[in-house]
Amino acid sequence: MKAYHLNNHPGAGGLVRVDVSKPEPASGEVRIRVEAASLNYRDLLILDRVGKGELNGRVPLSDGAGVVDALGSNVTQWKVGDRVAASFFRDWVSGPFRTTYVASSLGGDTTDGMLAEYVVLPASALVAVPAHLSLVEAATLPCAGVTAWHGLMARGGMGKGDTLLVQGTGGVALFGLQFAAALGARAIVISSSHEKLARARAMGGSILINYRDTPDWDVALMKATDGEGVSHILELGGPGTYDRSLRSVASGGKIIQIGVLTGFGPKPDLARLQWENADIIGVTVGSVEHFAAMNRFLTDKAIHPIVDRTYDFDDAPEAYAYLRTGSHFGKVVVKL
Ligand SMILES: NC(=O)c1ccc[n+]([C@@H]2O[C@H](COP(=O)([O-])OP(=O)(O)OC[C@H]3O[C@@H](n4cnc5c(N)ncnc54)[C@H](OP(=O)(O)O)[C@@H]3O)[C@@H](O)[C@H]2O)c1
Repeated sequence: MKAYHLNNHPGAGGLVRVDVSKPEPASGEVRIRVEAASLNYRDLLILDRVGKGELNGRVPLSDGAGVVDALGSNVTQWKVGDRVAASFFRDWVSGPFRTTYVASSLGGDTTDGMLAEYVVLPASALVAVPAHLSLVEAATLPCAGVTAWHGLMARGGMGKGDTLLVQGTGGVALFGLQFAAALGARAIVISSSHEKLARARAMGGSILINYRDTPDWDVALMKATDGEGVSHILELGGPGTYDRSLRSVASGGKIIQIGVLTGFGPKPDLARLQWENADIIGVTVGSVEHFAAMNRFLTDKAIHPIVDRTYDFDDAPEAYAYLRTGSHFGKVVVKL
């Protein structure tokens, strides 16, 4: 079967196409014929580490969807032909997070990912793809969708009457915007691009701020909300946005701490958190249980993920290069 491996061979750009043998499912495992895999910002961070000689030989990309192709013994919940997606943390099925799950993140340091024609995973690591979604759409859900769901819904309890701040128009951001719109919550979107803001308005964003033209977007946000601020923040920027997020949070609001778009290790001044009786919710993707709950919501509300572009398997390196430009709106997908 064909696959990509991370590889630091000079000139490979971090990725090489390989032909390897098709994996066989053991007891409790399922083989999936992968139809589509999607990219996340994380995959750029991982590719950068390959250049330093790390992760050689690992299959990249956490996110993918496909069709069940073969079953190991003792698998009762799936049958050949079922459409499934894999959960980001193979081993986090339900209950609270444990740090031991980190090693099971697909396409990470120690576990192969989805940019391969066939993958074998435990039956417990899969969710059914909602009937209204294509496999290309379903491939966008495991990291970006589940992260937004876990933070805003499972932990953040967002509902009608809330106001959400969305930072940018990438994968996690647009899932957040779609959830808010489906709930009837108000959404504020900040973006580098007027054209992207116009598209965000069409998706239900009601206050749009260009953070290039208006670097003090927190001031503009406060003015637009009559000094109230927002109840929920998808904090995706990190050091470059965190203090402004803190200045934007409403009394009793929640900062969902997720992203590192401007780097790692924000050193925020947390004083305002206390005066506003606000919370920080730290999120690292989510469990199979979160994924299944999100899929029920997507089905109920007939939500389709926003796919910006799809690339053929042979052009996977271009998909990475495109994501790095930051010009995408929503998700970038590789079809197998
Ligand atoms: N904690 C977790 O488990 C977890 C899970 C998923 C993602 N993440 C993190 O969340 C972040 C988003 O991930 P993603 O995959 O959704 O990224 P993505 O699709 O690559 O989105 C990138 C977009 O973010 C926007 N952006 C960049 N810098 C910004 C800034 N300073 N202020 C506001 N927006 C900015 C830009 O949108 P515009 O062009 O519209 O400005 C850019 O196109 C990343 O840092 C990622 O590592 C963390």
